[in-house]
Amino acid sequence: MNLFKAHINKLIAATTNALEQSGYDGVWIYSGHPENNFLDDMGPAHTINPHFKWWVPVAHVTSSVLHFVPGQKPTVYLHQPADFWHKIIDNSQDKWAQYFDVKVIGHYSELPDFKAAKNHAWIGSKELQPLEEKDTNPKALLNHLHFARIQKTDYEIHCIKQANVLALKGHEAARKAFYDGCSEYEIHMAYLQACEHNEYEMPYGNIVALNENPSVLHYQFQSRTRIPQADLKSFLIDAGANFKGYASDITRTYSFNDDAFAGMIQMMDAKQQILCQQAIAGQDYVQMHLNAHHYISEVLHEFGVFKCDPESAVAQGLSRTFFPHGLGHYLGLQVHDVSGHVIDELGTVKAPPAEHPFLRLTDSLRENAVITIEPGLYFVPMLMQEIAGHKDINWDKVAEFQPYGGIRIEDNVVVKKEGIENLTRI
Ligand code: GLY
Ligand code: MN
Ligand code: MN
Repeated sequence: MNLFKAHINKLIAATTNALEQSGYDGVWIYSGHPENNFLDDMGPAHTINPHFKWWVPVAHVTSSVLHFVPGQKPTVYLHQPADFWHKIIDNSQDKWAQYFDVKVIGHYSELPDFKAAKNHAWIGSKELQPLEEKDTNPKALLNHLHFARIQKTDYEIHCIKQANVLALKGHEAARKAFYDGCSEYEIHMAYLQACEHNEYEMPYGNIVALNENPSVLHYQFQSRTRIPQADLKSFLIDAGANFKGYASDITRTYSFNDDAFAGMIQMMDAKQQILCQQAIAGQDYVQMHLNAHHYISEVLHEFGVFKCDPESAVAQGLSRTFFPHGLGHYLGLQVHDVSGHVIDELGTVKAPPAEHPFLRLTDSLRENAVITIEPGLYFVPMLMQEIAGHKDINWDKVAEFQPYGGIRIEDNVVVKKEGIENLTRI
């Protein structure tokens, strides 16, 4: 069976089950539509409802509705307006369309009467909400659907892999641009060009950080100024790509010179690869996060930042100063894909440990979930200040590494029953 057909079959089964469990006879899923900025006739890039793009793999579709009733072929009301302002692409004959009853609509007035369908739910953002509040994004239904999104179909894994293939082209171009002495902005543009994305197509804003800037975890600027090569130290890039609505999310760190920081990156990379190998079905992800704290403490001990042994550094909470975020998250239709804190289809929450509030994934790993593994260590001035003068820290070493900002290495991994599939190291 082809990958997309098998994918749709899973969605039909999962949605049928979710509707039965939540007491609905059918569901409308709205793509959403672009909204303008406040007091303006311009708007930001539109992001499609992930539930809609789970079914319909066309990134630019808006103002369209999917209708699903168990036992019936799903229907897509595909909005292709007669519009002389925009180029309208006819997607009604695409390959994916054969699994749907596609009704092309030229105007909103051709949309069906949503209220006429008995006992239906509506899934979509609030700009269009034709059903009662209680039937709009009902929690019980969403809990089931979100849980079903954790374990990816082969089609979804293929899409995330392709998103990795694209992003890796960008990463290679970015690496070259860094060693050529380009500015953050120039590196960013080299990345976009190599993966043939425009800014709006990216799954998240690129983090392109030189020298001390990697210490800002979500560094959001791209300096236009080139740094003289004699002053260039480090480069962290966290950037993905998009394939049929699925994201990749990859981070690499480089040292400009063959120095101690280069050695630190190498050791972090080896530890990150050990963590990737641990991502087997049944593995407790919280435990992997704690393992990461031990490995990062080993790195910091090896490079003379921790004077105490790694176990003591973890026990004292020192590793949290250097690794303040979580080890990773689910990846899929959304970069931080849904259900990271949920352990069943009823939406039962497993909160992260109190000392690790930013951990986005707390469940045991499930077969065919796609996750990120992204340990980091940073020299964040604000966090360093909180432990200023601590006797187990070599502050001369902190001063030596602070101008490099920090390290993060991030791969996208498919959880398997035995072993893993690393989609990023291909
Ligand atoms: N790029 C955001 C993250 O790594 O989670
Ligand atoms: Mn990332
Ligand atoms: Mn990530």
